[in-house]
Amino acid sequence: MKRWKGRKQRKVMTDDGWKATSTEADSQTPCPDWWEISIINPNARERIGYPTQKPIKLLERIIAASSNPGDVVLDPFAGCATTCVAADRLDRQWAGIDLSPIAGELVLKRLRDDRGPLFDDVIHRTDRPLRTDLGSILRYNAPANRKALYGEQSGNCGGCGHHFEARHLEVDHIIPRSKGGTDHLANLQLLCSSCNRLKGDRGMEYLRVKLQLGN
Ligand SMILES: C[S@@+](CC[C@H](N)C(=O)[O-])C[C@H]1O[C@@H](n2cnc3c(N)ncnc32)[C@H](O)[C@@H]1O
Ligand SMILES: [Zn+2]
Repeated sequence: MKRWKGRKQRKVMTDDGWKATSTEADSQTPCPDWWEISIINPNARERIGYPTQKPIKLLERIIAASSNPGDVVLDPFAGCATTCVAADRLDRQWAGIDLSPIAGELVLKRLRDDRGPLFDDVIHRTDRPLRTDLGSILRYNAPANRKALYGEQSGNCGGCGHHFEARHLEVDHIIPRSKGGTDHLANLQLLCSSCNRLKGDRGMEYLRVKLQLGN
């Protein structure tokens, strides 16, 4: 029970699960700021066990309200593919991305279950996406990059913050190349050699914590 417009709001059990007694129809605005969509029942067929799974009805409503058939829907945090399945049902083109390899498998499984034998045109890729919007970029330690970074950082190390002459600063990839970081200027910084050694092939969070702890 929760308070709503100064009154206590009750919930009642219906065939579709628990519902608040005030409904969307009670709202006096064309589109109220709440939607009646129940959580996924623990025994529902829809539930596949992914910890953060959202109800398909919710995604269908969002997609129907914000796109047209044939449009492209992208969910870069696709999880267990609820967005992809909802977009597929509504005749949208779609793409889902997720860090977790399990998520990719779940997209395939859920679509196969949803579409049945007509499942043949989904492309599942596990390679790391590469940016294609960067144009031609300089070698990471090109003099022009060093000069631009020295000005941007006012001659200070991007780790400890101390000021150095340009020749004592080294060009570092903020996101390491081994993790997909590019040679683009936006991914570069100058570090003093001590900070650069400390950071090694890791992200900036590591360097910051190490510096805070006094190495
Ligand atoms: C809240 S869940 C999405 C749940 C989804 N709406 C559903 O119904 O299944 C968030 C997802 O984002 C993924 N994720 C987190 N960080 C990411 C990143 N940097 N790139 C891609 N996916 C990421 C996680 O693996 C997780 O599956
Ligand atoms: Zn430093």
